[in-house]
Amino acid sequence: LGQSLIYKESVRSTQLVAHDLARKDAKQGSVIVAGEQTSGRGRMRRHWDSKAGLGLWFSSILRPDNIEPKDASQLTLVAAVAIAQYLEKFPVDVKIKWPNDLFLNGKKLAGILTEMQAEQDAIQYIVLGIGMNINHTQDDLHETVKEKATSLLIETGESFNLNEVLNGLLMNIERKYELFIEEGFHEIKHEWEQLAYKMGEWIIVKTHKEWQAQLIGIHEDGALKVRDTDGQQHELYSAEILW
Ligand code: BTN
Repeated sequence: LGQSLIYKESVRSTQLVAHDLARKDAKQGSVIVAGEQTSGRGRMRRHWDSKAGLGLWFSSILRPDNIEPKDASQLTLVAAVAIAQYLEKFPVDVKIKWPNDLFLNGKKLAGILTEMQAEQDAIQYIVLGIGMNINHTQDDLHETVKEKATSLLIETGESFNLNEVLNGLLMNIERKYELFIEEGFHEIKHEWEQLAYKMGEWIIVKTHKEWQAQLIGIHEDGALKVRDTDGQQHELYSAEILW
């Protein structure tokens, strides 16, 4: 990842730039990094605050040819494990909140946005977007997320060189991605479960309603595995963990 690295000072969203380049046949592993994003986006059409110098905002183009579209969501989990393992070198307690959030001390540090272009049951390309809060002070956090978000600086008291963090992340993500392509999801699923936020605990999940469930793991295909209060097991493909 990042053999071809494109830096843009300011873009609306690195996802948009990556989709554009991917449509023009950009190579697998191309990475687009932005200084700032004026309309960074998250899952569920949420806004992603991406000011200059405070964090890393980048998107990678992937072209996995032995992965079926239905398994593409596993890539989010693969990237989450790679990022979490990179963060383990800092004195922080990293957890992954299904499906796409990296958590430190119960607050969101980073998010992953995986977008796929597929035709006739074959993946054309995937844009894997990652946003990580790094040098934000408490004051730099957007008013609406102050209670829920954090940064590496807030958690460790140190500020970081964005390039160094980027290189470390790209290396780790590439390694995990290759493992995933060669060996499948099995090994990584186990690592994911060890890093899972609130594993074994009772949580509140939101599907079409909000309900109480015990988090018991993830399924081979990336679904969240929970047990309800009657002891019945469920696999959730589209849901949000609220608590
Ligand atoms: C989420 O937590 O919902 C995912 C957030 C993903 C943000 C990154 S920043 C780089 C890339 N460009 C975007 O517009 N979004 C992703």
